[in-house]
Amino acid sequence: MEGTGPPRLVSFAPDVRFERKLGGVVEVSAPGVRFLTSERNARLIRQTVLAHSGRFLASELLEAPELDDAVRQLLQRLLHAVDGTTGSRLADLYDRIGRELPDPRFVFQNHGFVEEEESFDWLLPEDVGHKYPLNLARYLVDGLSLEDRMVLDIGCGRGGTCSFLSRYFRPRQVVGLEYSRSCLALCRRAHPLPRLSFVCGDAAALPFSAASFDVVTNIESSHCYPAPWLFFAEVRRVLRPGGVFCYTDVFGDLEEPARARRRLEALGFVVERQDDITARVARGLTAGYADFERLLRGMVSEQRGNGELVESMLDSIKRIPEEAYASGKAVYVAWRLRAPAEHRADHPAEHPADHPAEHRADPVAMAGGD
Ligand SMILES: C[S@@+](CC[C@H](N)C(=O)[O-])C[C@H]1O[C@@H](n2cnc3c(N)ncnc32)[C@H](O)[C@@H]1O
Repeated sequence: MEGTGPPRLVSFAPDVRFERKLGGVVEVSAPGVRFLTSERNARLIRQTVLAHSGRFLASELLEAPELDDAVRQLLQRLLHAVDGTTGSRLADLYDRIGRELPDPRFVFQNHGFVEEEESFDWLLPEDVGHKYPLNLARYLVDGLSLEDRMVLDIGCGRGGTCSFLSRYFRPRQVVGLEYSRSCLALCRRAHPLPRLSFVCGDAAALPFSAASFDVVTNIESSHCYPAPWLFFAEVRRVLRPGGVFCYTDVFGDLEEPARARRRLEALGFVVERQDDITARVARGLTAGYADFERLLRGMVSEQRGNGELVESMLDSIKRIPEEAYASGKAVYVAWRLRAPAEHRADHPAEHPADHPAEHRADPVAMAGGD
C-alpha cells in the first residue's frame, strides 16, 4: 500500500463493526483496531467494506482517486497484511458466517452458474432451492467419471459440493477440506452421508499423503489464500499421476488467471480446459438471488444477533453481478487440469512439512514472471 515496493497481499478485516456513540460519532472496530470517526466517514468506510467484503485481495483499491484522504487512512487501518505462508484471514469471515448462521439448509457459498438455456431435469427435488450454486459444481466436473474415485474438495465451505458429488456420482470416497471450524461442524451435521468425510486443514498444507486422490475440486475458495502457489503445489502432490484438478474461482486482479496458469504449468499440470465463465456465473448469481435472500432472511434471529451480517451479505451479493462482473472488474475462470502421468523427482512426495522451503517457492516469481 505504501511506498513503491512489490504490492503486498492485503484484505479487509473480515469482521468490521460499527457502533453509534453519543455526540454523533461512530466507533469502528475490527480485530486489533478501534477508532472513532464522523458519521459521514463511517458511512463511506462501511460502503467501501461492503462493496469488497473481504472477497478480493485489495492492494490497489485504496489508490482510487475519488477516495477522500481521511477515509483512505482509516481504511488502511482496517486492512490486514497477510504473511504469505499460513492459512487465510478471509477464512475468518466464513467462520463468522458459520457461527452466526449455523442453519444446515444453507449449504453453498458460491455465486452459481447457469447457461442461457438450461434444463435442470437431472436435479433431485431436494436440491431445487440451491440449483444455481450446485450447477457450478456440476459444470466443473462435467464429463468426468467419478465412479469409484477418491475425490477431495478443498475449501468445501458448508459442504454442498461434497454432498452433491457423493449423491449424484458413485465415488469411492469424497473428502471435504475446510479451514473454518464452524463450517466444518456444520458440514458434519448437515451431510451425514456414507463415503463422505470432512477434515479441518489449510489448502496450503494439505494433511494427506502424496498421490492419495484421483480428482481434486476447488470452487471459489482460492481467492482467500495468501499464497496460491503453495496450494497448487499441494494439489499436485496429493493427486495421483494422471489425476484431475477441477478448479474455478473469481479473480479481482485481471492479470491473476494468466499468472495462475503459469504457476500450474510450471508444476507440470496440463491445461485441458480453460474457460471464462463470468457471464454464466453472473447470470447464476442473479437468478439465484431471490432464493438466497429468502433462505438468509429466514435465518435472522435476534438471539444470535446475525441481522447485520445477513444484511451486509445480501447487500454485497446483490451488487456483484453489476459492479464486479458486468463492469469487467472481476473475471470468473474455470480450469480442467491434468497432473502428469509420472511424479517428477523434484516434487516433494510426502507432507510439505518434511521438505525444505525451496520446494515450496512460487515458480512464477522464481522465473521472474511476476
Ligand atoms: C466462498 S466459500 C466457497 C465454499 C464452497 N467451495 C462452495 O462452493 O460453496 C470459500 C471457502 O474457502 C474456505 N477457505 C478459506 N481459506 C482457506 C484455506 N486456507 N484452506 C481451506 N479452506 C479455506 C473458507 O473458509 C470458505 O468456506
